[in-house]
Amino acid sequence: MESAERFAGDLNENYELIMRAWPHANALRNVLAGNIVDYAAALHGSFSIIEIGSGAGESTSIILETLHFKGLLERTKFTSVELDPVLAAKQKKSLQSFIQKGVLEVIVADAFSYLKVSPAEVYNIFTSTWTLHNFNADLRLPLLVDIYRIMKSNGLFAVMDKYVPDEPDEEKRTFAEQLGSFHVYKSAGRKDLQSIMKAHEIEDRAPEYIMRTQETFKVMQQIGFSNCNLLIRARRDGVVTALKRKV
Ligand SMILES: C[S@@+](CC[C@H](N)C(=O)[O-])C[C@H]1O[C@@H](n2cnc3c(N)ncnc32)[C@H](O)[C@@H]1O
Repeated sequence: MESAERFAGDLNENYELIMRAWPHANALRNVLAGNIVDYAAALHGSFSIIEIGSGAGESTSIILETLHFKGLLERTKFTSVELDPVLAAKQKKSLQSFIQKGVLEVIVADAFSYLKVSPAEVYNIFTSTWTLHNFNADLRLPLLVDIYRIMKSNGLFAVMDKYVPDEPDEEKRTFAEQLGSFHVYKSAGRKDLQSIMKAHEIEDRAPEYIMRTQETFKVMQQIGFSNCNLLIRARRDGVVTALKRKV
């Protein structure tokens, strides 16, 4: 199944309600944003950030606000790539002030096609949240290769996603915990979402989709990434950083 199909219809339309089963979402987004900002603060002059699968701007807004808070906005050029035009429109509306300042550009495009035609070594920072796991491993590999290609030397890869535990018992435990949290949909009168999200979670765990953390790091290191690091994990979700740097 294509990533766009995996994330269309029920999931996109009910995203706010769906996120109730991920109460740690913004805590992880804040860790991600803090890391991006610390890295950016050490750069000289202007810097560029690209985010893919930015949805309605859930993480984009936190990253931009954190950059603003640290006085880095004037030096920021942020490109946000989202496939779904409805979500991209929502993002454009809520983040209008950043667009007007010339900091943010929202692009409606398929990330694969967009990165493919991007020149090499143009972005200081690559970021994404809860998007890469939607691509099966056969698609994710060439995508990671393109991400590496478009990043500047010494660039930062900072991603929050389903970087699940490698340890089998912990993987099973967190899976059960995540499924257990879907009762919130029933309480909200949407029992249908409980089975939809259970099916999605089971699919994310299938061999062709699952992103075991250390396994993923090995793939990234083969591409050329170094300093792969899991900063924090809550349940099945983690914030990962890496550098485009020769070791
Ligand atoms: C789970 S949502 C994550 C949204 C947001 N980043 C967040 O943290 O909540 C995945 C997003 O990726 C987008 N997406 C899926 N396939 C894509 C593709 N090929 N190119 C760009 N965006 C894509 C979906 O439309 C959706 O907005």
